[in-house]
Amino acid sequence: MRTIDSLIEQMTLEEKIGQMTLVSAGWVITGPKVSGDYMAQIRAGRIGAISNLWGPGETREVQRVAVEETRLGVPLMFAFDVIHGHRTLFPIPLAEAAAFDPALWERTARAAAEEAAADGLTLAFAPMLDVARDPRWGRIAESPGEDPWLAARFAEAKVRGFQSGDIARPENLAATAKHLAGYGAATAGRDYASVDISERSFREVYLPPFRAAVDAGVAAIMPAFHDLAGVPMTANAAVLRDLVRDRWQFDGVMVSDHGAVAELMAHGVAEDVAEAAALALDAGIDIDLMGGAYTNGLPIALERGRVTMAQIDTAVRRVLVLKARLGLLDDPYLRSDAGSALAARREAPRQLAREAARRSIVLLTNRDGVLPLAEETQRIALIGPLADARDDMQGPWAAAGRAEGMVTILEGLREAMPNSQIGHARGVEIEAEAPSDIAGALDLARSAEVVVLCLGEARRLSGEAASRARPDLPGRQAELAQAVLGLGKPVVVLLSSGRPLMVPWLFERAHAVLATWFLGSEAGNAIGDVLSGRWNPTGRLPVSWPVDIGQIPIFYAQRPTGRPPDPAVHYSSKYLDLPVEPLFPFGHGLSYARFAASGLRTSAGELRPGEAITIECDVVNEGPVAGEETLLLFVRDPIASVARPLLELKGMARIVLEPRRGGTVRFTLAAEDLAFLGPDLRPRLEPGVFELLVGRSAAHAKLLRTSVRLLAP
Ligand code: NOJ
Repeated sequence: MRTIDSLIEQMTLEEKIGQMTLVSAGWVITGPKVSGDYMAQIRAGRIGAISNLWGPGETREVQRVAVEETRLGVPLMFAFDVIHGHRTLFPIPLAEAAAFDPALWERTARAAAEEAAADGLTLAFAPMLDVARDPRWGRIAESPGEDPWLAARFAEAKVRGFQSGDIARPENLAATAKHLAGYGAATAGRDYASVDISERSFREVYLPPFRAAVDAGVAAIMPAFHDLAGVPMTANAAVLRDLVRDRWQFDGVMVSDHGAVAELMAHGVAEDVAEAAALALDAGIDIDLMGGAYTNGLPIALERGRVTMAQIDTAVRRVLVLKARLGLLDDPYLRSDAGSALAARREAPRQLAREAARRSIVLLTNRDGVLPLAEETQRIALIGPLADARDDMQGPWAAAGRAEGMVTILEGLREAMPNSQIGHARGVEIEAEAPSDIAGALDLARSAEVVVLCLGEARRLSGEAASRARPDLPGRQAELAQAVLGLGKPVVVLLSSGRPLMVPWLFERAHAVLATWFLGSEAGNAIGDVLSGRWNPTGRLPVSWPVDIGQIPIFYAQRPTGRPPDPAVHYSSKYLDLPVEPLFPFGHGLSYARFAASGLRTSAGELRPGEAITIECDVVNEGPVAGEETLLLFVRDPIASVARPLLELKGMARIVLEPRRGGTVRFTLAAEDLAFLGPDLRPRLEPGVFELLVGRSAAHAKLLRTSVRLLAP
């Protein structure tokens, strides 16, 4: 292997900038620009990495050109948005977050990495770690939800899954933690809009998952598109360089978002492309993704003395170190060639996709025990535009997924309920106002014992650049639903969407509603499993589900106010026309079993810094079927130097129980988990009493409580 230093020494400026340039081959379109003749650019040594192209043969051929037909033969990295699977699609991240299950999150990332690596890919533009509290923002679909603690667990699990410790192994990928940071707080939920949040919430809410990813050894970071209080993240040296590189000791690669370096001009902080390139390089961005800003701007910035060759060399070195860590400098064809051998070793991805999809479904309401559907149900009417929507089951960011590979709800239900006659009518289109056949759908519904209504979003309505000012049912779906509900039959609603949809009337009128998000390849089978009772639902909301848009942003970890909400008190913190509580709280999700928790206790009443306690409670399954319960541990610091949130998640624990059986769930809490940022924004532990609250969701009134005293060291 040539040493990295000797490679850098031999490089011309153009070749160095080539290593700092990543272009999109455009097999799928993930941004406003695709590269022209990328093969010519590779031959000229002007590209160091390429995205949106895959396949063992294809990547091998492109790599061959880089290795054999360029002056220095430096191999390329192959990048792709492996957001929720590669060829096999798992549920979208927001859905998967509902599993509250780090082991599952790790396994799906592992399976995605193995498939992607077998397709010659080396770098995943994932995991996406943006805490999101605004369902108008389309990218909430890609996020682990509203909670920083949960998002941090998601971050660690995903990094472990993609990288599996050693990224030199052919079945592993380098992961990219994105989008650093605060992107989820886009003003009014509008994608790419400015973010203006306090330094405290930036650190307490939005940074923790990135810190967790760095601590887990993530190979790359992608800063976000937005500006943070006027400073675009792509040029935010205080965060990228001073905090993440210097304080957190992140030594991997920073790759810009698509075109984000050049966009510094549109942000109004760079006069020309040379200045944009200089700002980004200075902040620590090593790779310019699809912007051409480094190619066009860095030579001028160098001439002007705005950047130094040493800075360029540092960025090139980081890129080459990553290539070396990926094993590419030893064997450029490592992954392309290992493809079929890897395929044989993989965990059966479809089975995992089904498991992940089942665990992602959240049973939001279930009146009169309408679910699970009785095995002897004779006639089921499956109605709605998402019942047989193969392509939409993929959700946004479908990577190398193909509509043909998806199981529809119609197929899954027919397979799960073989003794029932299942009729299907679309009724209306997902978005369009016409044509529709509501009358035909009603005829079908009239003849059935139960109606399953499949409503929601088309996959293009969530994800990047898919903010919706009114996240409700698009097109004429509400009209269809109202008409069906008007028949007075039992109606089960399946909501396919990338976000909580605000349809309070639907929850009031339907017998049961399930959040089925976008579940990926095995969507239909997983839904069939849940409706038929073959799987007892376990999913929990990773976001508060608002009643109405007027409540947004909404999240459980609110701070106390001097005038707590009280409908009976005029001068209290409330709305005159809406409740302050969400329709469903964070953590909400029903089961066909019924669990009761009691007896919350701690191993000690006091603890000192450096110590930990265990917290236990008893759980009984009082229902008729076996089930799995997840309990959440929250803490509250009632008196502190800075007002602390009313609840903060600190743990989760699961238990599987047969009917009428009981067991114990256990959490561990370290004194350091009680630390927070003081008035000076430095972490501190303040002695005093902390409340410990345990329950199924963040619904405050239903939580078991006890307390522990933190003693001075
Ligand atoms: C833009 C998106 O913000 C980012 O998440 C993605 O990785 C890039 N495009 C590349 O597709």
